Amino acid sequence: MLTISSAGEMAAVVREARRSGKRVGFVPTMGALHPGHLSLVHTARAQSDVVVTSIFVNPAQFGPKEDFSKYPRTFEKDSGVLAAAKVDYIFAPSVEEMYPKDASTWVEVEGISDKLDGKSRPGHFRGVTTVVSKLFNIVQPDLAFFGQKDAAQVAIVRKMVRDLNFDVHIVVCPTVRENDGLAMSSRNVYLNPEQRKQATVLYRALMRVQLLVDRGERNAAKLIAAGKQVIAEEAAVRLDYFEIVDNDTLDPVTTVSGGALVAVAAHLGETRLIDNIVFPKRRT
Ligand code: PAJ
Repeated sequence: MLTISSAGEMAAVVREARRSGKRVGFVPTMGALHPGHLSLVHTARAQSDVVVTSIFVNPAQFGPKEDFSKYPRTFEKDSGVLAAAKVDYIFAPSVEEMYPKDASTWVEVEGISDKLDGKSRPGHFRGVTTVVSKLFNIVQPDLAFFGQKDAAQVAIVRKMVRDLNFDVHIVVCPTVRENDGLAMSSRNVYLNPEQRKQATVLYRALMRVQLLVDRGERNAAKLIAAGKQVIAEEAAVRLDYFEIVDNDTLDPVTTVSGGALVAVAAHLGETRLIDNIVFPKRRT
């Protein structure tokens, strides 16, 4: 495994691999790796000849009052874990490498980047789509792997790939959870033991919605009310949103059917947590 910090060198290495007919799989991350990230890496390993993982805490996707400076950075540990997972290359550029001082170009997917997390984190998805575009241009992957955990990110990146004709296939991997249902996240380390217990309420609320749908309820307003009621049982948890939307457009739906995304975000102390479930589209 080789760690590369120069965009030019990364591009040259991958160009050579593609020239010899190799399929390049790419897993973009911000590091502080956990089993959720690793499930993407394992899937990439199984589907590609060459696996590239990027580790870059992208300042452009953090708001001025968000956790960019305290975001966990555990490069040594991450690199050991990636070597064990048989990753070929880590791309770990500096901020200056990715954003030279005179850089002034942004990629923004209009009409969708201000929904769900984009509503409460203005500019967040512009930062994501800009860095993901740059990473796609540098790594030129055949396949890129993203987690369902960040459902809005998936919808927005997919739309960007369609709108800008990126020659990459997006593979979405299921959310990996702790034993008690909490979705794994690099930000879970911010939670104290009490908050860690309270945090399971997000998953419990989603499971309540799942149960009601299994019992035949399809009315989105009723399902949202039931989910919110579960969240309200944990006084320390401050709800940001609880929405049921179309998985592709992120527009609210009134009736739940295949492709409906039930998404929740909440604050626990300083920590913002998200989670979701999606109802699979029926094959006809
Ligand atoms: P990061 O939060 O590090 O996540 C990297 C990838 O891992 C994302 O595709 C995310 O959805 C996936 N992931 C995180 N937790 C997961 C879990 N519990 N189960 C399954 N997949 C999970 O998402 C980002 O970084 C950044 O926005 C990035 C795309 C790298 C652009 O900067």
